[in-house]
Amino acid sequence: MPLDDALADSLDCVVEKVGNPAPRIYERLFQTHPHLKDLFVLDRDGAVRAEMIRLSFDALLDLEHEGHYARGLISTELTTHGNHGITPAQFAELFDIIRDVVREIVAERWQERHEQAWNRVLARVGDLVAAHRA
Ligand code: HEM
Repeated sequence: MPLDDALADSLDCVVEKVGNPAPRIYERLFQTHPHLKDLFVLDRDGAVRAEMIRLSFDALLDLEHEGHYARGLISTELTTHGNHGITPAQFAELFDIIRDVVREIVAERWQERHEQAWNRVLARVGDLVAAHRA
């Protein structure tokens, strides 16, 4: 399998093992930043939280390739989230949390090529966040 498919491969593995990883991702986010939970009080059915994770995965997969879609999405969402008081660092941290949770779920099937693919896309997220701040 080419290196470029490693990210998608890790996500396929997550779906196979647990289905939807979103509950674990939010559990980790709110463990680390309990006050962020209050921001979602109006999201009673969890639709916003589900959409955030879906789009975060779309952005990550896009960043493995051309990244045009991810660039626009991340820039727009950094602005809208900034209006809710979410800092660029917190925004970027969600992607780190997603990687940590994915790595834990993939567990014994996690390989060096997964680590490298995630490092690569997370560095790109970091660059986009830094460019937005500049
Ligand atoms: C710790 C990081 C984040 C927090 C605390 C957060 C929080 C929130 C909150 C409170 C809303 C609801 C806003 C409203 O109802 O007006 C929201 C909406 C949304 N979030 Fe996030 N978010 C985070 C990161 C992200 C990331 C990384 C993405 C995707 C790249 C994303 C994509 C979205 C989308 C698409 C919406 C729906 C509406 C909109 O565009 O604002 N969020 N987020």
